[in-house]
Amino acid sequence: MELLNRPRRLRTTESMRKMVRETRVDKSSLIYPIFTIDGTGIKEEIPSMPGQYRYSVDQFPYALEEAAKLGVNNILLFGIPEHKDEVGSQAYAHDGIVQRALREGKKHFPDMLFIADVCMCEYTSHGHCGILHGDYVDNDDTLVKLAEIASSQAEAGADIVAPSDMMDGHVTAIRQKLDEDGFKNTPIMSYAVKFASAFYGPFRDAADSAPCFGDRKSYQMDFHNGREAMKEALLDVEEGTDFLIVKPAMAYYDLLERVVSATNIPVATYSVSGEYSMVKAAAQNGWIDEERIISEMAIGAYRSGAGMYITYFAKELAKLIDEGKIG
Ligand code: PBG
Repeated sequence: MELLNRPRRLRTTESMRKMVRETRVDKSSLIYPIFTIDGTGIKEEIPSMPGQYRYSVDQFPYALEEAAKLGVNNILLFGIPEHKDEVGSQAYAHDGIVQRALREGKKHFPDMLFIADVCMCEYTSHGHCGILHGDYVDNDDTLVKLAEIASSQAEAGADIVAPSDMMDGHVTAIRQKLDEDGFKNTPIMSYAVKFASAFYGPFRDAADSAPCFGDRKSYQMDFHNGREAMKEALLDVEEGTDFLIVKPAMAYYDLLERVVSATNIPVATYSVSGEYSMVKAAAQNGWIDEERIISEMAIGAYRSGAGMYITYFAKELAKLIDEGKIG
């Protein structure tokens, strides 16, 4: 057989395959989400997310230490307050759960990078991501609160603030407030492309943040829409966001690729709780090879152009990189 092209030539040996790899990963691009909770002495496993925990502030440094030891340096921080109210006031309280965790984290690990999630759903008694007028989440009243949350987090030491609320104009409102309050150099990482997704199920369980009525479809996006995703991404760029997030990850790699090619700022994708829990459940049943599955999911994200990968598997991926199994 006279064949000019034999693509298999480049797959002959492990060394050959490694050399011609088109996608390489680096631990410095991994972002690990951690949940903090009011109280002391608490490290409780999240039932729907085996291997992930809620930490009280005093236990939080141990979680950071584990991540740091493996070379995972970037943390996305969530807080679950003891008291929730209509306006989510613990989200912007000076001594709120995330604010205290940030101070504690920075004290022990000044070189770690702390990204604070800016949202209200973990803090409101009704579980919606903003201020309610009747049954409707009011956009502009919510913006005022989001700006206050972001500023209080920056004040507590957040290196980056990450609004996940999906309100219109959120980057503008947050940027103005940060600048006014003296945080001109605090970057914004906006969840610009965030879909109303069933993949957040286990997170809502973890953060006790499921809406008590209705759903989030009047603010989070309809997953049938790709052009609208571009509109959201470009709007946030115009408003001055420093980073973009596409979320969830695995079912949205097409949009990740489009957002990366249409913009010129760093783009992250967030492999969310449902993606984690599905893998864990299947692996626990012996139905899949966990290491290989998480490697494929991660490489898929990077191959689609992600500059950063937010994942509950960050520590496992760091180990796989150390072992030379991916990278
Ligand atoms: C807050 C927020 C959510 C997630 C990140 N930030 C929940 C939601 O929108 O319902 C989901 C993360 C995950 O599922 O891992 N709004």
